[in-house]
Amino acid sequence: MNADPKLTPAYDVAALRRDFPILSREVHGRPLVYLDNAASAQKPIQVLDAMARFTTSEYANVHRGVHYLSGAATERYEEARRRVQRFLNAEHEEEIIYTKGCTEAINLVAQSYLAPLIQPGDEIVLSVMEHHSNIVPWHFLRERQGAVLKWVDVSDLGELDPADVARSITPKTKLVAITHMSNVLGTKTALKEIVRIAHEKGVPVLADGCQGAVHGTVDVRALDVDFYALTGHKLYGPTGIGILYAKRAHLKTMRPYQGGGEMIREVTRANVTYADAPMRFEAGTPPIVQTVGLAAALDYLDFVGRDAATAHEDALAKLATQRLKELNGVRIIGEAKGKGPLISFEAIGIHAHDLATILDREGVAVRGGHHCAQVLMERFNVPGTARASFALYNTVAEVDALVSAVQVARKVFG
Ligand code: ALA
Repeated sequence: MNADPKLTPAYDVAALRRDFPILSREVHGRPLVYLDNAASAQKPIQVLDAMARFTTSEYANVHRGVHYLSGAATERYEEARRRVQRFLNAEHEEEIIYTKGCTEAINLVAQSYLAPLIQPGDEIVLSVMEHHSNIVPWHFLRERQGAVLKWVDVSDLGELDPADVARSITPKTKLVAITHMSNVLGTKTALKEIVRIAHEKGVPVLADGCQGAVHGTVDVRALDVDFYALTGHKLYGPTGIGILYAKRAHLKTMRPYQGGGEMIREVTRANVTYADAPMRFEAGTPPIVQTVGLAAALDYLDFVGRDAATAHEDALAKLATQRLKELNGVRIIGEAKGKGPLISFEAIGIHAHDLATILDREGVAVRGGHHCAQVLMERFNVPGTARASFALYNTVAEVDALVSAVQVARKVFG
């Protein structure tokens, strides 16, 4: 499938697509148009090769052996941590904690950092556009410890006003937990401003960076954010690897999350003492190969150019928005200024699952449903939406395919 060279002239999307073998397959006898990137991105051969090379030549368990391969694998594992540190511009290496995904990273903060601080009536401030992974861990603290969840609304366009966050913070607030970019609306939050406001009131901030880390540069030092969670598989890396960035100032007070091998200093029959961060939070054999894959994915993003990729994706999303709006009976949900490259939409009279199923028959993969954001669905009074989400390898021809497939769906449903 060819790109329209006029959209982002210097960007060679056709060449990039050759790095993603899966993109050349067909589904239901049609060329695959993969627009479910917010759920999971496809992987370039550079990532797959890096993991295969590591597995076939340097693989062993890490931090456990004195033999050659264990040393080599440990070096690659720690090198990947430094790669992530550079990606986020974290000040210290130990601020980068490996997890199995963004969900585990947020649960780790809930259990290790916040749970010991919560007294009944203490408050956690969230926005209504959070993914369940940034809601349910806080519900646990509500159910188990009497925490109160305070919800910050968004406008009908999906915009979040930092002043509303300020108004929600009281002397009882223990944390603000907020997305960097909504997985449904595409809204990018004014994270730096929110952190500034929260810090003025002495409240730390956790950002869910699952989508935000993919569509923009993240500088945790400039943001001054306390915790930043992200996942590898949306960043063109493998599944099973996520990152929690936690400011060094918090690491000392955070209790271990899981117990097991390599997170201890000493274990006796009567007692246990714990290793320092990050290993205190990495019990058991970690996702070793996946860290190498994640580092390769970050290198790949740099090779493409993060700004160039973002500009390309934004241009595609803008074009798709315009084209979908020209169709009768299509409603876009989420039109915040400066939003990221994903589009949630309804075709009036067609259930989101039916819409996604018909699009699939046309070769177009989108997500349909509540997108693990039921609070937001309630806010917008919809049972679900279809969502097209763009990646660095999508093309104008794929925007055309999306629009044609929606037209087919509208014909099917009369
Ligand atoms: N969080 C992912 C999504 O939005 C799975 O689809």
